[in-house]
Amino acid sequence: MKRLILLLAGAAAAVSLTAAAVAGPSFDAEGKIIIPENMDRWPTVGTTYALQYEGDGGTTLNTVRLDPDSYDTFVATGKFPVGAVLQLEVRRPVEEIAPAKGGKTQGAVVGRSLHVKDEKGGPGTWTFYGFAAGAKTGNAIPRSQACYSCHDQHAGAHDTVFMQFYPTLAEARERAAHTPATP
Ligand code: HEC
Repeated sequence: MKRLILLLAGAAAAVSLTAAAVAGPSFDAEGKIIIPENMDRWPTVGTTYALQYEGDGGTTLNTVRLDPDSYDTFVATGKFPVGAVLQLEVRRPVEEIAPAKGGKTQGAVVGRSLHVKDEKGGPGTWTFYGFAAGAKTGNAIPRSQACYSCHDQHAGAHDTVFMQFYPTLAEARERAAHTPATP
């Protein structure tokens, strides 16, 4: 048994050595995620308008951001490192703020959530975290929730991240795939 545990520990170490990892987010003693500061400075990887997928969520303007260390790793490798954090920010659209005569721009925040490659459900897994406005910590959303099934079903081929809506990442992954690996 002891030998098996050692073998497993060795395998885990080998995995974490080969998979690029970043420092990633911190967690408190209860396993709540500490909400990263300055998320508004993170690179934007996707914006969507009026995407309907969860029943009548209302018409929203969404922005998806990726933490800067993971962004750099993604550009270099085309892969999300362990520790990657994506933030979804949902805002109400507003209309006709002068001088605009049409179109829509970002209004108040409706909600934010995080998608984190924290491997808390096993190697390579991601966890969703929800948090109230201004909160310092966020709660893990249970794996039984629809967040996981929809992301698995429609984005399972891409690390459960909706790459089909994030062209800058898709382009970066394409470039990384055609860049010879440095020895
Ligand atoms: C029916 C499908 C569906 C469900 C259910 C769903 N999402 Fe998503 N999610 C999407 C789509 C599509 C996007 C693409 C970006 C957008 O919405 O603007 C997305 C993007 C995201 C992102 C940005 C990073 C990424 O992984 O692409 C986060 C964070 C996120 N969702 C959190 C959640 C949380 C939390 C829940 C559950 C409370 C949830 N989602 C439920 C479809 C879904």
